[in-house]
Parts: sequence; structure tokens; C-alpha cells
Amino acid sequence: MTTQLLTTSENDLKTAAAIIKRGGLVGIPTETVYGLGANGLDPEAVKKIFAAKGRPQDNPLILHIHDAGQLPDFCREMPESALLLAERFWPGPLTMILPVKELVPKTTTAGLDTVGVRCPDNDATREIIRLAGVPIAAPSANTSGKPSTTTAAHVLHDMDGKIDAVVDGGPCRVGVESTIVDLTGPAPRLLRPGGIGPEALRELLGVLIIDRAVTGEIAADAVVRAPGMKYKHYAPAAEVLIVEGSRQAAAAYIRARFGAGDAVLCFSEELPLYADLNPTAYGAEADPASLSAGLFAALRKLDDGKIKRIFARCPTGGGVNVATRNRLRKSAGFHIVNAEDN
Ligand code: TXA
Ligand code: MG
Repeated sequence: MTTQLLTTSENDLKTAAAIIKRGGLVGIPTETVYGLGANGLDPEAVKKIFAAKGRPQDNPLILHIHDAGQLPDFCREMPESALLLAERFWPGPLTMILPVKELVPKTTTAGLDTVGVRCPDNDATREIIRLAGVPIAAPSANTSGKPSTTTAAHVLHDMDGKIDAVVDGGPCRVGVESTIVDLTGPAPRLLRPGGIGPEALRELLGVLIIDRAVTGEIAADAVVRAPGMKYKHYAPAAEVLIVEGSRQAAAAYIRARFGAGDAVLCFSEELPLYADLNPTAYGAEADPASLSAGLFAALRKLDDGKIKRIFARCPTGGGVNVATRNRLRKSAGFHIVNAEDN
């Protein structure tokens, strides 16, 4: 199959919508990461997503809608919290888990009684969904296990020849996947941190349980207790080692160990500390949005086959840094050292 590269012109969006309608696969831009979209109500189309990504069948997909008003079409119950969240954060980087209606196929939900729904903040993709007349099921448009894609070129790198088309909507603004909140339990539960920080959710909802899967915060001990390949995700071929601690301590730690096949992934403020080591900055520590936006592109750039080990600096604090830290820790398989202890 030849993968068509489409623009966001009205004509190309019609082409993309027609491909979705007839059961094909289209790479779609969103404000978080690129999605690998298919008609979310067509099990045969959805199966192709799993095949193209090499994704395990038991991992459910998010249903993308073009307007919050479509929520009742696919969800059986909508608690007050869902309406509040939609009103405040949609279109935007938030996915809600809600009880699913029968018309959504089991292939999309992986057999669950719930569905993740999101209204993305991208005009082109919302227009494709509207023109197609069906919700679009879409995981991140990367090969399973690899960093998500934040440009059309990344999508082609992983998916060329495996999908019908990709719509080039430019680089993704947020750069990490949506925040996921499960609204099917007694209290809202954060399943995945993303562009919307936990503080903003808690402020609106009053209460928010943070799922254990979120907090790479458990990782300090988990490094020892559960160093598992099972956690590895968003991973380049090279081993990633997160070096925590002050700028000076981290630079001393890394410089003492740096050798052939190593690379440094740091904040732009730190570039001078590694000037002779060909460092890569993924953003500025002073600008958390730049870190989330740049992380996956930087991991992909360092995934060149020659680099064997990446020393990475990771942001602290709340907001979108919670998501950046979560993704970086997963890409490192929770392999973390504190330079102050060494
Ligand atoms: O920003 C995003 O959310 C991107 C863009 C394309 O919208 N999509 C994305 O999809 O990140 P994916 O498939 O890579 O990640 C979706 C996550 C998976 O971890 C999946 O297990 C979880 O959402 N998920 C989906 N439906 C769920 C459900 N009903 N209950 C619990 N988790 C669910
Ligand atoms: Mg993904």
C-alpha cells in the first residue's frame, strides 16, 4: 500500500474522511500526538489499527468526537463530573472513561464495559470526524512500544506502507498524550497524566484519586523492587538512564561516566555544561510546555542505532511536568539515579 501524504486543505480533509468512511486507516494530527485513526464503529477497520501498530488486542482505543454534544451517542451514563470536564477542557488534551453504549464494538473497547472519549483540539481532525460522520478510534500513531509521534514525518517513519494516508497538521503543541480520567468509579481517578495537570482537575472536581500507575513517584524504590521490562514503553533502542539532582551534580555524574555510544538529553539551560559531548536539549526547564512538546522528537532523534545509552535529565514539579516525567521514566524502564548520592 502507498501511504498518501495529505495537507489540511478542505479537499484533502474530504479525502481523509472518505478513507475513514470506507474502512481505511489515516494518521491524524491532534494537539497531543498524532493518532492512527479508523472508523471506531467498524470492527474490521479497527482491527487494522492493531495490525499496523503491532498492538496487543487487549488494549482499548480512545474514541475521538468532534463535539462534546456527541458524548451521549456513545456513553450510557454521564455523571455531572463528565459535563463539568467537557465544558472546561474540551476541545483539549483530556480523555474521559465512561460506561459505553452497545453500538461501540468490542474491538474498540477491547471488550470492556467502558470507553475512553476525547474531543481533540485540532480543527483539521475535528473536521475529518465531522465529514466522516463517525467517531474515530485512534491510538498514538507509533509502532507499539516506541515513542509516540509528534510530526507527520514521525508517522511516516513508523507507518509508511501500512496505512492509507497521513494528514500533515504540523508539529503537535502539547507533545505528550492526553490526560485520562476514569469517571466510572466512586471518585474520579487519574489513569494517565497528560497536557492537563492533576491540580487543574482536582480544582474543578474537588477530589481526584491518583492511580498507582501514574506516579512514577513510586519509582525511587520501584527501581529496586520492580525493575521490569514490563514497564518499558516509549522506548528508543538505546538504554535510557535518568540522572536526578542539581545541575552541577548531574553534570559531574554524567561526565565521569560518559563514553563512546553515550548521549546526553538535557534542558536547554544545561547545554553549556555538556558543550563537548554533543548534547540534545528537548526544551527549557523554565518552560514546561517546551519539554513536553520536545520529548518524543528528541527520543526519536537519539534512536539512530548508534547510540547505546542516553543520560537524561527529567523535570520536577506539577502541571504538564507530571506527564513529561511519567513518559521519560517509562522510556527509562524506571532506571533512575540520584547524582547527589554518588
Ligand atoms: O492524546 C491521546 O490520547 C492520543 C491521541 C491520538 O488522541 N491517543 C492515545 O491513545 O494516546 P493510546 O491508545 O496510545 O493510549 C490510550 C490509553 C491506553 O493506555 C489504553 O489502555 C487506555 O488509554 N484506555 C483506552 N480506553 C480505556 C478504557 N475504557 N479504560 C481504561 N483505559 C483505557
Ligand atoms: Mg500510545
